[in-house]
Amino acid sequence: MEWWINMPKVELHAHLNGSIRNSTLLELAQELDKKGTVVFSDFEHVIRKNDRSLREVFKLFDLIHMVTTDHQTIARITKEVVEDFAAENVVYLELRTTPKGNDSIGMSKRSYVEAVVEGFRSASSSLDINFSLNDLEKCPARTGKMIYVRLLLSIDRRESTAAAMETINLALEMKDMGVIGIDLSGNPNVGEWATFLPALKFAKEQGLPVTLHCGEVPNSVEIQEMLDFLPGRIGHACCFEDEEWRKLKSSKIPVEICLTSNIRTETISSMDVHHFGNLYKANHPIVLCTDDSGVFSTNLSNEYALASSTFGLGKAEMFQLARKAVDYIYAGNAVQKELIKVFESAAETLEYN
Ligand code: IMP
Ligand code: ZN
Repeated sequence: MEWWINMPKVELHAHLNGSIRNSTLLELAQELDKKGTVVFSDFEHVIRKNDRSLREVFKLFDLIHMVTTDHQTIARITKEVVEDFAAENVVYLELRTTPKGNDSIGMSKRSYVEAVVEGFRSASSSLDINFSLNDLEKCPARTGKMIYVRLLLSIDRRESTAAAMETINLALEMKDMGVIGIDLSGNPNVGEWATFLPALKFAKEQGLPVTLHCGEVPNSVEIQEMLDFLPGRIGHACCFEDEEWRKLKSSKIPVEICLTSNIRTETISSMDVHHFGNLYKANHPIVLCTDDSGVFSTNLSNEYALASSTFGLGKAEMFQLARKAVDYIYAGNAVQKELIKVFESAAETLEYN
């Protein structure tokens, strides 16, 4: 694994609450069990389970959200997630999370996102981290790992048009805190595309890039409408039919590929038939991502190693794939230029054979 860990990588599809360390999740559940708020054994059972259907994954998220309610915990898990990605040489991370309000503890969607930003800030005690809107701003050089971190705000498919619009407005207000785009996610069997479209259109008009979870379940009408919207990127693209592949390929919309997630949730039956192979051969823009490194017990280095062994791609090809991901980031040209330098310098030191 060492080579894959040493290779610089770009992560564009990672959900905050899906990327929590298992140890932290168990610790938080234990604390709340003592207070009588949750039952620890419920957590232990689901957390330790390796294979989960898509339905079970959303049950697990409901459990996770029960223990990550307060500002302090949100800041803590954010800090740890950034540290974990940086530790495996992820040099650019676009983290996504669904802003959640909770009146009983004085949490608004805004204060939730501020807690995430606080988590970024506290990660800077051990890391050289850049999460400012000003792309050129650099932290004073430290000896630790360097990572650029940006935030996407997610709209959950359970939400109404008004709630989705609130998230877009929040993203616009928090642009100077590293919020650079919007994601549509949540249980794909819930909600209608028409509910989110007005808010997503507004985001686009305001210059906020949008990425959509698309085709996690068969739904031709929705998939085609999503592709017609021309999002900046899409995630998954598992249940596409011929017409949708044709549309996708002619649109050149980059696809965030999450191999382990797709297998664990049984959205794809086995790795060898995964559409990564086809899209890679077609030279379609793709980027390997983790989705939920905590929930699916993976990391980005592992995803690269997995793609390499499954599809017979060598280290040089995988390095190029990682490098190409820089083209699809939502941060501006200045960050792209810095990242290209990181890859150029790594190309000189990494052994390919
Ligand atoms: P959060 O937004 O930080 O709370 O991260 C967890 C949330 O991300 C879940 O409640 C879902 O809305 C979303 N999510 C995580 N994994 C998936 C997935 O595989 N498909 C669709 N949505 C997902
Ligand atoms: Zn996802």
